[in-house]
Amino acid sequence: MELDQILEKRRSIRKYAKGDKLTADMVRTFVEAAIEAPSWKNTETARYHVVMSYEKIQALREKSFGSWNLQNTENVQALAVTTFVKDIAGFQKDGTPDNELGNGWGIYDAGLQNSVFLLKAAEAGIDTLVMGIRDASAIRELLEIPENEEIISVIALGERGETPEKPHRRIVDDIVKFY
Ligand SMILES: Cc1cc2nc3c(=O)[nH]c(=O)nc-3n(C[C@H](O)[C@H](O)[C@H](O)COP(=O)(O)O)c2cc1C
Repeated sequence: MELDQILEKRRSIRKYAKGDKLTADMVRTFVEAAIEAPSWKNTETARYHVVMSYEKIQALREKSFGSWNLQNTENVQALAVTTFVKDIAGFQKDGTPDNELGNGWGIYDAGLQNSVFLLKAAEAGIDTLVMGIRDASAIRELLEIPENEEIISVIALGERGETPEKPHRRIVDDIVKFY
């Protein structure tokens, strides 16, 4: 599939069909592609905690989502918790921030990676939903995520049970200024 088609096909899916297409090896290929993304001084601080067992998926949904994302994630085949290792990207070796954004660069790098992850999933026929509305403390406790990692999003993966309309998008002239 051409990149333009993948960009068009990827949608946030909030209704999943029952399915079993997704394998751990497929998720590995999404991460492998994501690793190709650029990062601050090539520090590569993004991490993924991928939950694929049915019981653990249900526990994660119930403990860390409110009613909205609980409803959105019925029948998902995996939940990938995205994190980044703090105080490295955007910082010098002695811990001094390189500029005013500090750990904002770690989030930036993880976002760049996550975007590739979503597109590779779409290319493989796997649908996704990025969720920022989640309880980070509950996730940390359940998956025993170390304190040096900041929890960012949870990405649901599965097979679409709906075909949503493409949401409104701005046009290029709304967001670009050429100098
Ligand atoms: C950082 C981030 C956090 C998001 N959090 C949620 C969420 O908690 N629940 C949800 O249903 N959608 C969430 N979304 C999905 C957005 O609402 C969605 O990407 C946007 O409406 C555009 O739709 P599209 O992805 O189909 O193009 C999130 C997206 C991003 C990038």
